[in-house]
Amino acid sequence: MNMIDRQSRLSFLALALLSVAGAGLGWAAQGQTTGQGTDPAGSRPSAASSGGSAAPLSAVAQLGKAIFFDQSLSGSGTMSCATCHDPAHHYAPANGLIVQLGGPGLDRPGIRPVPSLTYKIATPAFSVGAENPAEEAAEASPMAEASGTALSQQATPVAGPMAGQPVVKADAPADNAVPQGGMFWDGRADSLEDQALGPLLSPFEMANPDAKSLYDKIKNRYGEKLAALFGNQVLDDQSMALSEVGFALARYQVEERSFHPYSSKYDAYLRGQVKLSAAEQRGLALFDDAKKGNCASCHLDKMTDDGQMPAFTDYEFEALGVPRNPAIPANADPRYFDLGICGPQRDDDFAHQPQNCGLFKTPTLRNAAERGVYFHNGVYHTLEEATRFYVARDTDPASIYPKNPDGSIAKFNDLPEAYRGNIDVIDAPMDRKPGQPPALNEAEIADVVAFLKTLSDGWSGDQAAKTTAQQQ
Ligand code: HEC
Ligand code: HEC
Repeated sequence: MNMIDRQSRLSFLALALLSVAGAGLGWAAQGQTTGQGTDPAGSRPSAASSGGSAAPLSAVAQLGKAIFFDQSLSGSGTMSCATCHDPAHHYAPANGLIVQLGGPGLDRPGIRPVPSLTYKIATPAFSVGAENPAEEAAEASPMAEASGTALSQQATPVAGPMAGQPVVKADAPADNAVPQGGMFWDGRADSLEDQALGPLLSPFEMANPDAKSLYDKIKNRYGEKLAALFGNQVLDDQSMALSEVGFALARYQVEERSFHPYSSKYDAYLRGQVKLSAAEQRGLALFDDAKKGNCASCHLDKMTDDGQMPAFTDYEFEALGVPRNPAIPANADPRYFDLGICGPQRDDDFAHQPQNCGLFKTPTLRNAAERGVYFHNGVYHTLEEATRFYVARDTDPASIYPKNPDGSIAKFNDLPEAYRGNIDVIDAPMDRKPGQPPALNEAEIADVVAFLKTLSDGWSGDQAAKTTAQQQ
């Protein structure tokens, strides 16, 4: 029985996404209709693989795995997903480049740093709305929601604050205007499944010239497997076949435990298996303290009541105003700006709403210490610099931004003036004035960084996995 009908395949994804997206937000408790939702790994398939010896991948996930590593599916013939998302580097690049080179000749630079693919499964669909999507989903009939498109239908455009007014976050009255969720720095794909074809067709990534030529390669190499799994008719329908490829890639990322191992020192600490060092403990306190780092207000770090491990992101979008990075080739053109939701990679309704310009998705900080390229434009290369940015941006902007020809400080120089009102100047530590002391001094920055280093997986994978298995 290896034939998977469309309904159950969609249900699977929807449930996997809902059970994790809703955890800690009241959904998990109500999600008992599905018999899942409280597994720390975020989904049943991966839970089944806990305990060190990973459960075998399903046939669909195995197909996804083969495609993930298949270089012949690229225009250059030498690039696969794993080239940029290397399993030996937490599914981030092995090199420290700010942007990777792709395309048919492997000479076309990308425009944004490559994120790690760890801990993406809980990402809700992109939405801008008053309520958390998972809560809305929980209110609707669970079976109707299992259609897989339900999440994306909740992306209702609502009137946001006028351009020029700050976009405020969490708990503030204008919370209903905050975009959240979606894949990529700009949230443009709703799910891992939707996302997967992007890199295969992107001219500066795997660079297949069009869907037809990708489909031909897929049919040639994986036709038999696709037919066995999804029925012969799948091969007659190009868009159906490609959508099953996206599904297989997504399912690989959901089922394969190493995409979400929860094996960091901090995970072990949350399970009561280890104590943090004095510096790590001080760093955690500063990370949490609303008057100091206040990092946890966006990079959520608490286990939920039902035992769900923290994702270190609230999936919300913010404009932080990081300085422009001249090392990105696209930035050589002074008229070019990466505006996040407003493009260049998005051109939907949201991209044309001024209050969304300059906003990027809050990334998880899990495994951040293992990457050397930070923020959407990779302008910083150490966690010290990234942390210092938050506390010095307003108190000592001369240390963050270059000077204009007239000697003034080019503050927020990576965002056109029209959108600078979107930049967050409300949340601590970004609410200070020039000359005020920074919210964190250098010793405190070092402590925060010591804490961030506890978020790297592989600290004691086996031991952690065993304990997780026992808890279940
Ligand atoms: C040339 C390098 C490159 C290749 C090859 C590549 N990616 Fe990516 N990937 C990126 C970059 C860069 C981003 C961020 C792009 C953005 O946000 O606009 C990204 C983002 C993603 C994301 C979203 C992560 C997040 O934080 O939201 C997923 C999922 C992903 N890639 C999966 C894949 C899969 C699956 C493949 C193979 C089919 C693949 N990638 C191939 C460079 C690459
Ligand atoms: C108001 C929400 C908010 C707060 C508070 C916040 N962050 Fe962030 N963080 C973000 C967003 C949004 C980004 C991505 C912004 C971008 O790339 O333009 C980000 C990016 C980062 C990155 C880069 C990660 C990567 O993979 O590129 C690091 C490191 C980081 N934050 C650490 C911290 C620390 C440490 C603190 C506390 C001192 C903190 N953040 C406070 C929202 C926040």
